[in-house]
Amino acid sequence: MTADRIQGPAIRVQGLEKSYKQLRVLRGVDFDVARGGIFALLGSNGAGKTTVVRILSTLLKADAGKARVNGFDVATQAADVRESISLTGQFAAVDEILSGRENLVLLARLRHLKDPGRIADDLLERFSLTDAGARKVSTYSGGMRRRLDIAMSLVGDPPVVFLDEPTTGLDPQARIEAWRAVKELAARGTTVLLTTQYLDEAEQLADRIAILHEGRIIVNGTLAELKRLLPPAKVEYVEKQPTLEDVFLTLVGGGGKNGEHGEHGGSGPDAISARTSEERR
Ligand SMILES: Nc1ncnc2c1ncn2[C@@H]1O[C@H](COP(=O)(O)OP(=O)(O)OP(=O)(O)O)[C@@H](O)[C@H]1O
Ligand SMILES: [Mg+2]
Repeated sequence: MTADRIQGPAIRVQGLEKSYKQLRVLRGVDFDVARGGIFALLGSNGAGKTTVVRILSTLLKADAGKARVNGFDVATQAADVRESISLTGQFAAVDEILSGRENLVLLARLRHLKDPGRIADDLLERFSLTDAGARKVSTYSGGMRRRLDIAMSLVGDPPVVFLDEPTTGLDPQARIEAWRAVKELAARGTTVLLTTQYLDEAEQLADRIAILHEGRIIVNGTLAELKRLLPPAKVEYVEKQPTLEDVFLTLVGGGGKNGEHGEHGGSGPDAISARTSEERR
């Protein structure tokens, strides 16, 4: 059991199902996340990404299926799962009145960790917030807040970190800063499961990408594997590799009701990803 916990995947999801009344959101979701990797769960608005994250972080019970996080069963070993994870939701959970450093110290104290001041200073440094550490969070930019939020999720050094849409609402510069923070997590061996609607985010960050669509994982692989699903388009002898956007739209828009996704030429990835599946129909 212990060996299994150390050697097994950081996250194992098998046959997960969840409905809200009549709405069948998850219809048998399966995936594994290897230790120390960044795994992106990609899907349109309402695909069920947050639902998966809430089940994995024990905030919500699945109707059927199994999920293990850090070797622990989310249904029967919820306390152990909670000790193994941190969850960063879409909206920063930091206290505006306090400084960045005070937020970190407070959290380390709440978790009964030794030497909260040192933990705070280390994290401020890792996330390039040392200079801003003494300032009230209310004076931080969006990117700084998000970095602080990610730093907060590392207090206590959990082996598995869930980031639900870590860059939604950030400007391009702030997104790049947040991406750097996420890469930094994985570089230290933390397993990261992030959800995103931004295809370029998955392309930039993830070792593996899974697309959640109509309640199931319809593909799961590395970016290179996903790109191989589509043949490269040949234009005047120059090979154009498909982008992740092409792959996503072919798969998600696929099952092709009267070729409806022919419209997507010309829109940027954000425009595409912000569009709901309803709107695409
Ligand atoms: N508590 C709830 N009660 C009823 N329906 C819900 C509840 N939570 C989520 N849903 C519905 O379940 C579906 C999946 O929601 P979920 O939040 O998991 O999607 P998501 O992929 O995270 O979407 P987004 O990209 O917009 O964050 C949506 O249709 C949503 O309206
Ligand atoms: Mg969500």
